[in-house]
Amino acid sequence: MSLSTSHELRRAFLDYFQAENHEVVHSSALVPDNDPTLMFTNAGMVPFKDVFTGNEHRPYVRATSSQRCIRISGKHNDLENVGVTARHHTFFEMLGNFSFGDYFKEQAIFYAWDFVTRILDLDPSRLAVTVFGGERNLAADTDAEDLWKKITGLPDARIQRFGADDNFWQMGDVGPCGPCSEMHVYLGDGEPDPRLVNQEPGANGRGWMEIWNLVFMQFDRDEGGVMRPLPAPSIDTGAGLERLSAVVQGRLSNYDTDLFRPLIQLAAELAQKTYHGSQSADDVSLRVIADHARMTAFLIAEGVFPDRDGRSYVLRRVMRRAIRHGHRLGLESLFFHRCASKVIDIMKDAYPELAERRPVIEEITQQEEMRFRRTLDRGLELIAVNKNWTETRDGKVLPAAIAFELYDTFGFPLDLQQTIGAEQGFSVDEAGFNEHMQQARERSAGSKVGDLKVDALYQSLARELGRVDFVGYEDETADSQVLALLSSGVRVEICEKGQPTEVVTRVTPFYAQAGGQVGDRGLIRTEQGAEFEVTHTERPVEGLIVHHGVLKSGTLKQGDRVRLEVDHALRHATRCNHSATHLLHYALRKVLGPQAVQKGSLVAPDRLRFDYAATRPLSSDEIRLIETLVNAKILENAPVTTEVLPYQGAKDRGAIGIFEEKYGEMVRMLSMTDESIELCGGTHASRTGDIGLFKVLSDSGLAAGVRRLEAATGERALAYVHALEEELSQAATLLRATPQTLSDKLARHVEQHKQLAKDVETLRRKLLTGPQTDLSAQAKDLNGVRVLGAVVEIADLDSVRELADQWRDKLAPAIVLLGTTTADGKALLVCTVSKELTTRFRAGTLIKHAAAVVGGKGGGRPDFAQAGGPEPSRLAEAVAQIYALADKTAD
Ligand code: SER
Repeated sequence: MSLSTSHELRRAFLDYFQAENHEVVHSSALVPDNDPTLMFTNAGMVPFKDVFTGNEHRPYVRATSSQRCIRISGKHNDLENVGVTARHHTFFEMLGNFSFGDYFKEQAIFYAWDFVTRILDLDPSRLAVTVFGGERNLAADTDAEDLWKKITGLPDARIQRFGADDNFWQMGDVGPCGPCSEMHVYLGDGEPDPRLVNQEPGANGRGWMEIWNLVFMQFDRDEGGVMRPLPAPSIDTGAGLERLSAVVQGRLSNYDTDLFRPLIQLAAELAQKTYHGSQSADDVSLRVIADHARMTAFLIAEGVFPDRDGRSYVLRRVMRRAIRHGHRLGLESLFFHRCASKVIDIMKDAYPELAERRPVIEEITQQEEMRFRRTLDRGLELIAVNKNWTETRDGKVLPAAIAFELYDTFGFPLDLQQTIGAEQGFSVDEAGFNEHMQQARERSAGSKVGDLKVDALYQSLARELGRVDFVGYEDETADSQVLALLSSGVRVEICEKGQPTEVVTRVTPFYAQAGGQVGDRGLIRTEQGAEFEVTHTERPVEGLIVHHGVLKSGTLKQGDRVRLEVDHALRHATRCNHSATHLLHYALRKVLGPQAVQKGSLVAPDRLRFDYAATRPLSSDEIRLIETLVNAKILENAPVTTEVLPYQGAKDRGAIGIFEEKYGEMVRMLSMTDESIELCGGTHASRTGDIGLFKVLSDSGLAAGVRRLEAATGERALAYVHALEEELSQAATLLRATPQTLSDKLARHVEQHKQLAKDVETLRRKLLTGPQTDLSAQAKDLNGVRVLGAVVEIADLDSVRELADQWRDKLAPAIVLLGTTTADGKALLVCTVSKELTTRFRAGTLIKHAAAVVGGKGGGRPDFAQAGGPEPSRLAEAVAQIYALADKTAD
């Protein structure tokens, strides 16, 4: 078989293991749904974690996959290395074969050797392996050593022992783990030294390179570091596709394979550079862009958009890093979306979802670049003009306050500042920066810190009790037994009345909050008549369902036999809303296209909302169309059917939601006609007609690229329509119209209003220039200055001001003080002074004296001032003040 491309290699690997009776499992999502402690799927075994521990069962015991992964932190995965070395990446694919209690070391070693030497045709004289040499109270893996010898015939020197750092693999602090064995290939010239086998090649790519890790899974490590044996010894192997491609394609660097070269080429063309594959700053930048574009395209396709928190923040950080490298290369216009688009071209055959989501990927990438570019120059300028460098022995340090401002105001992630620092010769006060961050977190109530912590108590409870049986798809009541009670974070034997408690039973009909659907409410009763009110149900860890609530009467203790009853009315309303949410999803995709990716949803008894990817609001026509489409499906009264079927079967039927879901073997598929087929674990209406009526309430922007639709169904939708009707009829009554004639009548009123406003303005102007405002008789000449003090009958401030200005100009150089009574019965004074007189007379000072007469205060500029007061009856006296004041010498 020809293996000239990476796609062929991926296919060859999966085919090889399929022929060896392995189930080919499609890559799971990058955002793991089975482990809240994990930010991204970071190894091929992550989707199978619960299968190794025995918490999940699949209908197969051998699997193979090409799993997309992201690693951006950890001992060997420093972001700073990406683009610098020949094989560090943020996003990569891991080929793997897995055995769940089936074959063990011998078979795993055989497969690895056979595939590498026979299928990939690698020269055995350039291969070496490592085994676990013993550490942490565990003996050296002599079995593996012997098996390698037996199967491969490798000489002793090519089988090296290393300690736990190199040859013991664990998923994280907790989870499946075991000793491992790695295969390495020698790249480069000369005679390889097998003692250096665990040293990664440097930037030039020459040296020993690890190509395959075989983990002999034997333990499950808990939070306390205790390692319990797994139900059965298992196999987890991982081979990086990019590395293997490099070897097969005869390249020293992963970046020279067909997975990266077209991306580098595109970036180089856009920047008008030539790529030399060197360590020059330009070449590193081109590689960084190529790498980061892959992570960007894949994460956005999964619905992770750049933002300020969690995974979204990590994405934003990586995108901004790439954009900054583009900026460094002199790329002045938006470019990064074109790189993301190229990723789609390269990968779409293996991941068709990418092509489907191209518009969103491009749009979101472009938006982020626009956003960052708006502040990039200003941020760089802030560094350039900064004069507050701290000097240390190691050189210049950017102070924490500036680093934080760059982060907070200009969106420069810390590592980006550090990269710029490395180029420009400064470091960043990281400790100080972290302090600022901490303070900012404390200030912001919505801090996400701690969200990812899983309560250890739930973990151990799940292990102890096993899986709670959910029977709520079929039944709303069930008889069961109380297995555990929890109160204030500890286990209790007896439930105290009135005290918030969590109840765990063997079986439950209560739906635990998931997939946007809120948890069920209802009652748990004992035979003796005790009543526990369930206010919320959730699943804190896989397999465990807890009922939150309080004991209302009687006693409830561990071991009691109970009857669980879901609140039927609430459940029914929730079911209808959930089905309506699917119909809304269908309609939205129909109107906007598949790029309207679901970003989240909430399904409660009284409301539903649906967050989706879009960069502009829906027009009212589109909203109308969505309502029409959904209500047409409701009128069809189609049955809502659920089927549990293999993943591939669901995919073939066109089910959506697959990309976000877990790739278990069997999936639950929900259909309402052929047009709405989704994977869903929620509870649903029996027929679409149960929904009754569907009405969109609002469409609003939620975050960059995400919008939220809120809608109502059934009685609530009707109540909404009634409330609107009521509003309409009240408005019609006010206008003496009917709802049907309201808009015509209102249009006429608006016209009339405009005309009236025009008339008022004309009259006002006339008034200001008419005989009733001829104040010339009251003007006096005092020391060469014309002075006018008058009371007028104009109630609005603007007109009085205009009149004062007119007379000041008519009499110039002049001082004018006008008084009037406002509509609400207050005295108002306005004083204006010709510019050339302001060195002698100040309006602000003059008006103070006049204002005192009407019992008020005032002030202003030298040429204009105004004042108010409570005694309009003394206005004449107040304005007369001006003559005496002007007669004095200027103040
Ligand atoms: N889990 C191991 C690794 O990630 C082998 O798949 O290296």
